[in-house]
Amino acid sequence: MTAAIQRRLETPEPQSAERTQLYPELNNAHVRFVGLGKTYDGKQGPVAALHGIDLAIQRGEVFGIIGRSGAGKSSLIRTINRLEQPTSGRVLIDQVDIGEFDEDRLVALRRRIGMIFQHFNLMSAKTVWQNVELPLKVAGVPKEQRDQKVRELLELVGLQAKHKAYPAQLSGGQKQRVGIARALVHDPAILLCDEATSALDPETTQSILGLLREINQRLGLTIILITHEMAVIREICDRVVVLEHGRIVEQGPVWEVFGNPQHEVSKTLLAPLQHALPPELQNRLQPQPRTSDDAVVLRLQFTGTAQAEPDLAALFGALGGRVRLLQGGVERIQGHALGQLLLAVTGSSLSAEDLRQRAGNWAQQAEVLGYVV
Ligand SMILES: Nc1ncnc2c1ncn2[C@@H]1O[C@H](COP(=O)(O)OP(=O)(O)O)[C@@H](O)[C@H]1O
Ligand SMILES: [Mg+2]
Repeated sequence: MTAAIQRRLETPEPQSAERTQLYPELNNAHVRFVGLGKTYDGKQGPVAALHGIDLAIQRGEVFGIIGRSGAGKSSLIRTINRLEQPTSGRVLIDQVDIGEFDEDRLVALRRRIGMIFQHFNLMSAKTVWQNVELPLKVAGVPKEQRDQKVRELLELVGLQAKHKAYPAQLSGGQKQRVGIARALVHDPAILLCDEATSALDPETTQSILGLLREINQRLGLTIILITHEMAVIREICDRVVVLEHGRIVEQGPVWEVFGNPQHEVSKTLLAPLQHALPPELQNRLQPQPRTSDDAVVLRLQFTGTAQAEPDLAALFGALGGRVRLLQGGVERIQGHALGQLLLAVTGSSLSAEDLRQRAGNWAQQAEVLGYVV
């Protein structure tokens, strides 16, 4: 949990006592979707993009949305600033239903919600300074205030020296920094990021994520981000939701979902993060044993706190025979250890299934991957 959420949880907004007791997790929801549905009028008829989405995003949280292409991620976040109009259900911001807003209130709402995009959406004929200044000009902010705000934001994103440059003269990372500065001109309370790092190389992605983290902590912004890069979620998000065909199929703290994904889609999306078998071993792996001397290859996963640091001597002893370590590691997400071991067991008196069950006493998950000679 970020310091910002912690602070705000300690100073809850006034609520009726009854409501507070019934829905403690909703007290502080910054953005809430209630039975949200969205259907587009496509060329070949209606396209149902979202169904019955119920979700509460807390103030100050960095919230991730993942899912395959076409799952409805963009549609969902675009209902928050009403770039998309829901077909059914409601979007509440600070407990206020934004569905009833007239044009004036919508303009005001959109100013309090910044958005950044994969392709930056900068004006190519305007300088860095002018790109950041433009929304302030449109809003009729006087020049002196504009200058101060632009200067302040360019400093925040580390682009003071580039203020006269044009987008074509900038790297991808610098362009996204301009996008971030521009998204912050009206001191938004929420920042929406739709694949904001997807066009960037890994190193630049890291620096942009660092900047987003800083904005989240220093300014207390709620950040809602869509990405197909699971490493981005692992790096920066507090909680994550998995969408599939317009429905929520899984949600929870990142360490929990990443450590022990339940739904097929989550497992598939997260597979690239798992340490794969070395290729030469993968090639030799057989689904069935050919001789009784074949080694059983086991994958063990450890999630949480106590379980993530298993007693290896006890585990190996329980498996019997010779246990070789093929691969292993422990990483930490949000302070929770997530571990994985790939083991090859030979000469045990236990069957593969018995080995799996024994291993399951130490690990959250144990599976037999196959057999090697
Ligand atoms: N303006 C639109 N008109 C018709 N169909 C749309 C429109 N926008 C999105 N869709 C459809 O809605 C579904 C969800 O799209 P989207 O929210 O963009 O998914 P994602 O961002 O997860 O890739 C897809 O089937 C997509 O083709
Ligand atoms: Mg999208």
